[in-house]
Amino acid sequence: MRFAAKAIILGLTLTAGAALAKEGVEDPTVKARMDVMGIVGASTKVLGDMAQGKAAFDASAAAAAQTALAAAAAEIPAVFEEEADDPVSEARPDIWMNMEGFVEKAKAMEGAANAIDVTSLEGIQAGMGPLAASCKSCHSDFRAKK
Ligand code: HEC
Repeated sequence: MRFAAKAIILGLTLTAGAALAKEGVEDPTVKARMDVMGIVGASTKVLGDMAQGKAAFDASAAAAAQTALAAAAAEIPAVFEEEADDPVSEARPDIWMNMEGFVEKAKAMEGAANAIDVTSLEGIQAGMGPLAASCKSCHSDFRAKK
C-alpha cells in the first residue's frame, strides 16, 4: 500500500516535471504530501489560467490537468495518513484528530475535479468555482495561515 502510493506519487511528480514541495522541507513524509499538493496547485493553475484567458484553451492540457487533480485527490488520504511534522509544514494537527473529516474534503475535491467539463472553455470556467471552493473548504479547516 505504502509502496503503491509512493510509486504513484513518483509518477505524478515525474509527469509534473519538477519537485514541487516547498524549499527547505526535510521530513520525507511531509515532502511527499507537499509534492501531491503541489501537483494539485499546478494542475489547478493550468485550468485557472485557461478560464481567465491567461492561456489559450487546450483540450488535451485541460484533460491532463483534470486527470492529475483527480489522481492527486485520491492520493491525499494515503500521503497524510502518517502524522509527520516539519518546520515549514502548514498542516494543522486537526488532520490527525479528524481524519474522517479531512478525507471527506479530499473526496469532495476529487468530485469537483471530475465534474469539470474539460472539453470546452465554458465548461472549465463553470467548474472552477466549485473546485476552488473545495480547496478553500479544506484549507480553512486543516491548513494553517502562516
Ligand atoms: C483534504 C484537504 C485539502 C484539499 C481538498 C486541498 N488541500 Fe491544499 N493543502 C492541504 C494541506 C493540509 C496543506 C499543507 C501541507 C503541509 O504543509 O504539510 C496544503 C497545501 C497546499 C499547497 C502548498 C504546497 C506546499 O508545497 O507547501 C498548495 C499549493 C495547495 N495546497 C493547493 C491546493 C489547491 C489548489 C486545492 C484545490 C484544487 C487544494 N490545495 C485542496 C489540504 C488540502
